[in-house]
Amino acid sequence: MNLSEYLAQADALAEECHALLAGLDAATRLDVAKGQLNALKDDRLASLQGALRTLPADDRRAAGGAFNTLKQRIQNALDAFAQRQSAASGAATFDATMPPRGQWRGSLHPVTLVIDEICEIFRELGFTVALGPEAETEWYNFGALNFPPDHPAMELHDTLYLGEDTLLRTHTSPVQVRTLQQFAPPVRVLAPGQVYRRDFFDATHAPAFMQLEGLAVDEGVSFVDLKATLAEFARRFYGATRRVRFGPSYFPFVEPGAQMDVEVDLGDGKGLRWVEILGCGMVHPNVIEAAGLDSEKYTGWAFGMGPARIAMSRYGINDIRVLYDSDVRFLEQFAR
Ligand code: PHE
Repeated sequence: MNLSEYLAQADALAEECHALLAGLDAATRLDVAKGQLNALKDDRLASLQGALRTLPADDRRAAGGAFNTLKQRIQNALDAFAQRQSAASGAATFDATMPPRGQWRGSLHPVTLVIDEICEIFRELGFTVALGPEAETEWYNFGALNFPPDHPAMELHDTLYLGEDTLLRTHTSPVQVRTLQQFAPPVRVLAPGQVYRRDFFDATHAPAFMQLEGLAVDEGVSFVDLKATLAEFARRFYGATRRVRFGPSYFPFVEPGAQMDVEVDLGDGKGLRWVEILGCGMVHPNVIEAAGLDSEKYTGWAFGMGPARIAMSRYGINDIRVLYDSDVRFLEQFAR
């Protein structure tokens, strides 16, 4: 074999290897492709390697270079095949009939869950939902609710003022007055909404939080209706075995005023204890009159509760701040 024959054979083998691999179906397994390639090249490569020694010394250098180039071209052809094959196999595993992978789904906030559940219970008891503005006038927030001017309770509420006469409502009770102005009795409404107080964030206080107001006004409504309805609510929300109790309390817009406590386990190892979940009472005649109704004819009762506190009592949460942190690890526990 002379040099030109050697170079021609090396070139031909490289071309054939390339043609073999390029001609294979991309679905061919790699070991099968390599087997076919080896069958084609191994003997001829070995004989070309052996022939190097038989060539005249002057030609060996050029032949050796051609031999190395040949091996490189075979490897390149193999790499190209492997690449084509893996691209095709990636496509082959796409199956449009496969169910989608589990996706992370958002969930309702625990306070929202509690509000929805309470609204549903009261809906079954004949209540509809009413809403009022978060920016209120002093009159709706205090005056119409029988707070005397400069009453210390206004201080207690730590009001955030927006202007001379406008403020961020400190409770949802102004919706009582707005509702009575708008609708003739019988009135049975539930008013969920955000309220604001000039408070620092700590384990039990937040400067903005949800409240849920309830109001029932009609002829002949009494404290018995209040107690029966709220006890029934507690029975449906907490279960029949949970104990509730009523005690006296004071709010300027109710007379008499009361609070309802429920016995709960906050999950802190301290066992059952009484937790106040709402303030309530018979709507003060001055409030009925402020709304433009005859307090001789109409009576009513109202309550206000904090759904965050109720969520805490229900889920055994002892720091209100987790309800505001938006930590997905906490929130996703409430995904349904
Ligand atoms: N508005 C009162 C509060 O913010 C709660 C309440 C509402 C009490 C209705 C009695 C009747 O604490």
